[in-house]
Amino acid sequence: MYKQLVAIALIGLIQPLWAQQRDAAMKPFIDQLMKKMTLEEKIGQLNLLTPGGGVATGEVVSKDVEQKIREGKVGGLFGVVGQDKVRKAQELAVQHSRLGIPLLMGSDVIHGHKTTFPIPLALSCSWDTTLIRETARTAAREAAADGLNWVFSPMVDIARDPRWGRVAEGAGEDPFLGSLIAAAMVKGYQGNDLSKEDAVMSCVKHFALYGASEAGRDYNTVDMSRLRMYQDYLPPYRAAVNAGAGSVMSSFNEIDGVPATGNRWLLTDLLRKQWGFGGFVVSDYTSLNEMINHGMGDLQTVSALSLKAGLDMDMVGEGFLTTLKKSLQEGKITLQEIDAACRRILEAKYKLGLFQSPFRNTSEARAQAEIMTAATRQLAREAAARSFVLLKNDKQTLPLAPNKKIALVGPLADNKRNMLGTWAVSGDWKQSVSIREGLQAALGNAGSLVYAKGADISTDSFLVARANALGVEIEKDKRSPAEMITEAVNLAAQSDIVVAVVGEAADMSGEASSRSDIGLPESQRALLKALKQTGKPLVVVLLNGRPLTLEWESAQADALLDIWFGGTETGNAVADVLLGKYNPSGKLSMTFPKNVGQVPLYYSHKPTGRPFNHEPFAKFKTNYLDVENEPLYPFGYGLSYTNFSYGDLTLSSPTLRAGESITASITVTNTGNFDGEETVQLYIRDLVGSITRPVKELKSFRKVFLKKGERKQIQFTITPEDLKFYNADLKWVYEPGTFRVMVGPDSGNTREQSFELK
Ligand code: NOJ
Repeated sequence: MYKQLVAIALIGLIQPLWAQQRDAAMKPFIDQLMKKMTLEEKIGQLNLLTPGGGVATGEVVSKDVEQKIREGKVGGLFGVVGQDKVRKAQELAVQHSRLGIPLLMGSDVIHGHKTTFPIPLALSCSWDTTLIRETARTAAREAAADGLNWVFSPMVDIARDPRWGRVAEGAGEDPFLGSLIAAAMVKGYQGNDLSKEDAVMSCVKHFALYGASEAGRDYNTVDMSRLRMYQDYLPPYRAAVNAGAGSVMSSFNEIDGVPATGNRWLLTDLLRKQWGFGGFVVSDYTSLNEMINHGMGDLQTVSALSLKAGLDMDMVGEGFLTTLKKSLQEGKITLQEIDAACRRILEAKYKLGLFQSPFRNTSEARAQAEIMTAATRQLAREAAARSFVLLKNDKQTLPLAPNKKIALVGPLADNKRNMLGTWAVSGDWKQSVSIREGLQAALGNAGSLVYAKGADISTDSFLVARANALGVEIEKDKRSPAEMITEAVNLAAQSDIVVAVVGEAADMSGEASSRSDIGLPESQRALLKALKQTGKPLVVVLLNGRPLTLEWESAQADALLDIWFGGTETGNAVADVLLGKYNPSGKLSMTFPKNVGQVPLYYSHKPTGRPFNHEPFAKFKTNYLDVENEPLYPFGYGLSYTNFSYGDLTLSSPTLRAGESITASITVTNTGNFDGEETVQLYIRDLVGSITRPVKELKSFRKVFLKKGERKQIQFTITPEDLKFYNADLKWVYEPGTFRVMVGPDSGNTREQSFELK
């Protein structure tokens, strides 16, 4: 698996001939152009604005955008929706500004453009990088057909605190899985040639460490050791850079006491000098101005600091636009620094082919033909089904037996509005398929489906007011909670089985949606309790943008299917899975804690000096008085309708030497009643080191499809490269000694063997 990452890195480094030729022609072209530019026009290129109309994620929306474009004071726009409007803005720049420099046209294409795929956290549970790359490719095609050339994705922030709402936008807790997904997304967006009309430039975010905000509160302080940074948090950004990402977005948080947007160590020493990044860096939404609140000085000071740190483009805040000239006159920055940033922006435009083709062949006809087609919807349906995680399935409650009377209940069962999940700025929820619609269409005349809402998503007025800040996702029903529950219970009593669709509203996770209580809202728990009392088998289908605390819910449910937010085709995908057309195969990319007090809880933790290994409670060991240490569902966990049995793990040799490899083999058998797919996971522990090492780290995995009764031997090659880590001097090394290899269906259930690295 290490080889996969190296290959991706090499592809990023080895430039094809045409790209070398293009880059050779790029320099003289930009030299010529920059000779013609005034200082104001150069500074203008560093300015990114949003004219409003889309979703503003800060308090400021840009003003006088049209005039500024004409004056050459804008390098790019985002939040312009529709190819016709994008074209108009581009016309202003190309035809009505003095030098006719085209604009970067960005957007938050996070999990699809118009066709909305499952939220990124969900997609990561597919552990399927080919699928994920294909969703990004499709999103790029749609975005490009809509006039866009730049997407603010992927978000690759490692996140281990589910209170943080933005875990929904990333790939979970693990750097290895996260790195593979980061690279796959960049490749998907950018294709192999940025100047092709269906490619868009990717923007990796949020650089860096944003996922480690203290207490899970958004925009909060981050403080961590360099070791943890290098080992756990930085790898996915680096993988995205190695995969060729054209741009990077700085994060809101501070790192070692300096906000990322003005952090020279981060943006220059690490990103450019150590990693060799050659693209441009854009700030996050007013993150430059927010350095004033961080206590770093006034707007002129923080703007100069950021430019000197290596920031090239200022998103929305206009700190660069309004202060850099003055700072230059006062000798606080140099013309070379402005030129360097300007050049990087112009290079991005050049690579995108915008100087030759600013409109990139967009038209109404192309948009019609390429956006939201039967094929994109089909991909969304498959992606959704492949991202669902089956958390429980007692007595084979699922798949639903044919011709049964189903009571479909719950506030999210017949609810299009909440299917897309957070950050679907261009998605149209009205075009999404609700679960009721999906099930009804699939059942046709077979069986019968009755429906009751049963509860509001939440009746907590404090939470509802905040969660509805971007629009009403949590509606208040006219009926009382008791009336709604009674209706649901009556339907349940007359049915063979209950399917309860519960969870979070779309914007109960996502940006600025941190929660201190990550349980199911009380109104929905009351509904589940009443349904359970009917004695009917209870299937719980859960929508969520983060791991939730579900100990009680899991005990009530006979089957528990986590569908996250599945996007446009949610309802059809749920029908595919509930009715057994698709056998679920998702595996958690983030640990589910038992309660919020266990957070942060992640599988690759360090050993302590006083370990507590499942024995009865013992004083003076690392544990709690009121809860076990173990999670409710560990990283990598997920069931199937079939069963997979694992044979013994064998190693080809008890020793490994430099330049050699050993093979770990295990036989997996499908012993159940369905064909199905398993994700076989390999973890390694370095038992003794010069610094402490995690109790296990994911090093490889293999997705394997096995027909009923079929068995396959799965082999993993382990080389010394797989055993490297950052030592106390931040050197990437391996150290001789004993290593434990663990293979199994999840991080909490593995077979073990050991070998010596000589
Ligand atoms: C703020 C968010 O942090 C970032 O992810 C997003 O790309 C920008 N706003 C632009 O909308």
